[in-house]
Amino acid sequence: MNNATKLFNLASSAAANAYAPYSQFKVGAAILSSSGNFYSGCNVENISYPLGTCAEAGAIAAMINGGDNKIAEILIYADSKALISPCGACRQRVAEFASADTKIHLADKSGIKKTFTLEELLPNNFKEF
Ligand code: THU
Repeated sequence: MNNATKLFNLASSAAANAYAPYSQFKVGAAILSSSGNFYSGCNVENISYPLGTCAEAGAIAAMINGGDNKIAEILIYADSKALISPCGACRQRVAEFASADTKIHLADKSGIKKTFTLEELLPNNFKEF
């Protein structure tokens, strides 16, 4: 199975487990780390809305817990009419562990629909001070 298929399968399975009783919008994210490991996460909402976490945050937490800290590729999945796209906060979350050419795949149930680089989704990002 190729990397894109593995990422798609992991993210769509994660989305199936998402806890999204308030938005009803289930999202999954899967990461391929630069050392070749895969991680995934889903959104976890809370009745106190701002406490909810995005799928990307869950996948990044799993990656850090797994001992990796470089994202080679990330895939974000939602079974939605409009193609999922990471929120601004998640673009910054990904940037922390990515490089300009890190691939960000956007997928729905029929597969990967678009692929961007981090530089395309978050140009001129804040990465040093
Ligand atoms: N959400 C994600 O998990 N990732 C995204 O890239 C966009 C939005 C979640 C947050 C919230 O639980 C639900 O989708 C609706 O905004």
